Amino acid sequence: MGENPFTPSFGEVPLHLAGRAETIRLFQRAFDSGNRRPELTTIFSGARGTGKTALMAYLADCADRSGWIAVRTTALPGMMEDIEIQLRRKAAHLLGDQAKVSIGSIGIPDLLSVEVRQTAPASSNWRSRMEDMLDQLSASDTGVVMVVDEVDPSLDEMVQTAAVYQQFVVDKRKVALLMAGLPHNVSSLITNKTVSFLRRANQIHLGPIDDFEIERALSRTMADGHRSVDPRGLSVAADAIAGFPYMLQLVGYHAWEEASGEVVGIEGFQNAIEISRREMNSRVFAATLAELSASDVLFLRAMLVDEGDSAIADVCERLQWSSSQVAQYRRRLMDAGVIGRRARGVVGFELPFFREYLQERFEDEGL
Ligand SMILES: Nc1ncnc2c1ncn2[C@@H]1O[C@H](COP(=O)(O)OP(=O)(O)OP(=O)(O)O)[C@@H](O)[C@H]1O
Ligand SMILES: [Mg+2]
Repeated sequence: MGENPFTPSFGEVPLHLAGRAETIRLFQRAFDSGNRRPELTTIFSGARGTGKTALMAYLADCADRSGWIAVRTTALPGMMEDIEIQLRRKAAHLLGDQAKVSIGSIGIPDLLSVEVRQTAPASSNWRSRMEDMLDQLSASDTGVVMVVDEVDPSLDEMVQTAAVYQQFVVDKRKVALLMAGLPHNVSSLITNKTVSFLRRANQIHLGPIDDFEIERALSRTMADGHRSVDPRGLSVAADAIAGFPYMLQLVGYHAWEEASGEVVGIEGFQNAIEISRREMNSRVFAATLAELSASDVLFLRAMLVDEGDSAIADVCERLQWSSSQVAQYRRRLMDAGVIGRRARGVVGFELPFFREYLQERFEDEGL
């Protein structure tokens, strides 16, 4: 028996990325093109577990294979230094010695070297050091892709990185910037005035993936693990997965573990779904709920009254809130990736089974 081929973790590139073929094709084309294509400045947004990190990691590998140098970081203090250090390392074979040796260490007579050292800080900053490297890399037509995960609009370095990147683009340097974050972080980053150019960047929202794609990724990954699937089990699984990548990995992982023979049957999938739902509750839903405010939760509770989607007018009446207050929380919850617009004045739950999770939680709390 081989190893379980599923990756129910975070950020790990799965063996088969469901539903991303078209996106990957466009990026591949952008990395291979001699012209600057819009994909080179992209912001991905999506709720927890929608596959932002995995997709960016995959695209970074595509870029590397197409002769770019991709550096991946997370929006945290120190991210600029991290980008610089990683680039210096990954591009070492293409960079001349002057990029590695600091000015103060060049063997010049002592007196002079003191002077050089004193003036060094003023003549070098992040932008200039990056430009030096980009200059050297341009000799071999090597571009640099900066990949920033978990974008945080309140982090100065995040805004600075984007602003300097814009300068690089204006200067016609071969650079790309891929960013990803939760919808509300992405939308507040792009409203920051310093980096208003990001509003015109390529934006990709990662929503639910088609069942057909889910089934295909599931059966292909099973096949990689030397197992085949009962087609009825596959469709039961797709229903439970509801287009959510993390759930696909959970269900696949447990179904693979459940199977005793070569074929994963319908029962194996049913057991796997049950285990996976519990894990979704503790790993995704509890974290999502903890990020919401008390009023956000009141809004969601008012939505639970409906069987399916909710009319905003009904939510308004149930809560006895003003329409502007309801509009404000509707926006917040949409930005958090919890609800989505279904039609004019109609919203529904966006995260699959978050609704059921909330119902259970409220029942447990006797609300
Ligand atoms: N397109 C996909 N097809 C199948 N599995 C995927 C796909 N994208 C991601 N996954 C799997 O789903 C899980 C979650 O992916 P990932 O960590 O990239 O999500 P995320 O959006 O970055 O989540 P978070 O917001 O919590 O960081 C991982 O186990 C990953 O292997
Ligand atoms: Mg992530």
